[in-house]
Amino acid sequence: MNKKVITICLVACSIVAGLLLIPVSGIVAQDNGRAQLTLNGGRQGPVPFNHQLHQAIVEECAVCHKDFGKKTGALDEAKKTGALKAKQVMYKTCMACHRAKKRAGEKFGPISCSACHA
Ligand code: HEC
Ligand code: HEC
Ligand code: HEC
Repeated sequence: MNKKVITICLVACSIVAGLLLIPVSGIVAQDNGRAQLTLNGGRQGPVPFNHQLHQAIVEECAVCHKDFGKKTGALDEAKKTGALKAKQVMYKTCMACHRAKKRAGEKFGPISCSACHA
């Protein structure tokens, strides 16, 4: 192969590699939702929730969103249809992580009722 052909090949390869990297690097728009949410905490009162902070400290959206969609009201909807039990997310997702972090001696979130329910 002559030099010109090699150069063209290299250019073509890097363009293809660059395109393949776009989804990985997150250039494709991702809807992160609102930074600050207020969750429905039933008779215990509303739960202010810093979504943005959790997106920064929790590696995978799926840690929470495996149970309900990335859509406003999805959590209540899943409880209404019976797909989720009342307090299931609270215990199995929110508190489970906060407790595990505490046990591990890392920064952790609230565990007492009144610290989450305003
Ligand atoms: C620690 C738990 C948690 C993590 C991690 C998390 N979310 Fe959410 N997200 C929620 C909750 C709770 C709601 C509210 C759902 C509802 O209104 O029923 C929500 C709602 C949303 C919504 C709906 C829009 C809105 O503003 O109500 C979008 C979009 C969303 N999340 C995207 C993401 C993406 C993308 C990630 C990962 C980068 C992510 N979330 C990580 C808990 C989380
Ligand atoms: C880490 C934050 C957090 C803590 C701590 C917490 N909660 Fe919750 N609680 C939530 C969230 C989020 C929901 C809504 C999701 C769900 O039902 O799983 C909720 C829902 C509830 C509900 C409504 C369930 C329904 O649908 O009827 C009650 C009642 C409740 N919590 C009581 C308590 C009590 C009692 C405590 C203390 C033992 C407590 N919570 C501690 C976050 C928390
Ligand atoms: C995988 C781990 C993880 C999950 C899941 C998680 N949290 Fe947290 N949360 C943390 C950590 C770590 C902190 C402490 C962050 C800090 O102090 O910088 C925190 C802090 C908080 C705080 C106090 C900081 C603030 O925003 O005022 C609240 C309230 C809270 N979490 C509520 C929730 C609720 C409600 C859920 C479930 C919908 C949840 N968390 C799910 C790890 C988690």
